[in-house]
Amino acid sequence: MGDESAGERTARAGSAGGMTRRALLVGLGAAGGAGAMFAAMGALGLAPDSQERSFTPPRRSDFALSGRASAEVVVLGAGVAGLTCAYELGKAGYECTVLEAADRIGGRNLTLRGGDRLPELGGRTQVAEFGEGVYFNAGPARIASWMVTMDYCRELGVPVEIFVNNNASAYIYTQGMAAPVRARTARADMYGYIAELLAKATDAGALDRTLTGDDRERLLEFLRHFGDIGRDLSYRGSDRRGFAVYPGAAAGTPLPGPSSLGEVLAAGTGRAITLDFGVDQAMPMFQPVGGMDAIVTALARAVGEDRIRTGARVTEIRNLPDGVEVVHSGGVTRADYCIAALPPHLLAGLRHNLGAQVTAALREPVADAAGKMGLEYGRRWWEIDDRIYGGITETDLDITHIWYPSHGYHGERGLVVGYYNIGAEAEAYGGLTHDERRDRALARGERIHGEKYRTELRSSVSVAWSRQPHIEGAWARFPFHGGGFALLQSPAGRVYFAGDWLSHLIAWQAGAMESARNAVTGLHRRVLATE
Ligand code: ALA
Repeated sequence: MGDESAGERTARAGSAGGMTRRALLVGLGAAGGAGAMFAAMGALGLAPDSQERSFTPPRRSDFALSGRASAEVVVLGAGVAGLTCAYELGKAGYECTVLEAADRIGGRNLTLRGGDRLPELGGRTQVAEFGEGVYFNAGPARIASWMVTMDYCRELGVPVEIFVNNNASAYIYTQGMAAPVRARTARADMYGYIAELLAKATDAGALDRTLTGDDRERLLEFLRHFGDIGRDLSYRGSDRRGFAVYPGAAAGTPLPGPSSLGEVLAAGTGRAITLDFGVDQAMPMFQPVGGMDAIVTALARAVGEDRIRTGARVTEIRNLPDGVEVVHSGGVTRADYCIAALPPHLLAGLRHNLGAQVTAALREPVADAAGKMGLEYGRRWWEIDDRIYGGITETDLDITHIWYPSHGYHGERGLVVGYYNIGAEAEAYGGLTHDERRDRALARGERIHGEKYRTELRSSVSVAWSRQPHIEGAWARFPFHGGGFALLQSPAGRVYFAGDWLSHLIAWQAGAMESARNAVTGLHRRVLATE
């Protein structure tokens, strides 16, 4: 995903009477104050900074006005998409039944606490041994402020707190480095040298064909700030790198360095220091207080727990002339409509009469692997020893990331995410037993945090999403060329489809919720229009 917001794209695509939009806004801000500026931003499509707000939830009064009645809907899957469908339809009095194959609800929204069992395909089951108050968000764990997930948290009364997605005190470790460095040091050096190179090239006239004299001066001014370079435009280090001993009553002791430009480039920190530039990764990000499954719990309560049947594995979906019929392990459920909110690769394998085109479309998305491990410690050494309060250490090892908890600061225990990897690395870890995964992850983490990473461990749990029953993948992506994405936005007879895989926010709960809203809108309009 690019770093440009939809608003910025809109702004860039248009023009405002020969004036750049930025110049226009700056001018308005100066002349008319923030209110005028905000109003103008709205008119230009730059604000508000959130997802599409055109969704109107179905209401009971819609039927009163039309003289029609609501309908019975069977929703397949009690993941975030399925629960959102049932929640929104419930606002208008639809009779929803949610069928869930697993013995728990939430799908990939999974928070594990002490005593929870985690079965895996292949027969192995882990039992979490975490102490009181410790939890592991094994699936989704962060929410961007512009995502609709935040609206549902507000509406459902789910309290949220900051999720620290970027921490200058966390480490960067690549195999090109002799030892891990703090993120602030890696950034300062890379930005410093980039600023030096560009400033010197600009100063030497190398960009004179592109820049006016004013541009050149403004660019140099920016680069001085960007890289904290000297008057001679050279980068020789900066306080931004951090200190060996931080200043207090006495002056600080600077870190040794910086390394040469060649060494900084050879460290290969590009991905690691730019990850949070993404529009879906930028701070501030959020998490529900107490665990991500608070969203699931709140949705299920609002739907009505008696409407959700767990342990009901669907085997067949049939369109009938006047309804739908779903065969599952608990019997047969008939309804007026169905919303299938299961992973596409599992839907594709069900018996159905929806047609060959639907089967082909459902087979298009490719399921990705992802894995995560929770490591519980009895001492919050990352805070005490390393001064890391939340955030993520980025590596190019097969663990990819180490996450530190964004809650419970200064408490007794805490849980570190020992790996969060995708693709081939996730498959490799997934193929191991839990103990083998743990030993491998600890060996990697020890390279960053030393012996305590192993010796102070209390317990651990790992999830391999490709091996999760009834899910079998972390997320599924449509190939760009296929027509399946467009086809499945529309119902097949009386069967609608929903899931993050049918959105442009794959692997986000917001994608599941947006897709659910689409399905609900289509279904409700149809019911209102039916003679
Ligand atoms: N939404 C996923 C994440 O936050 C991909 O990592």
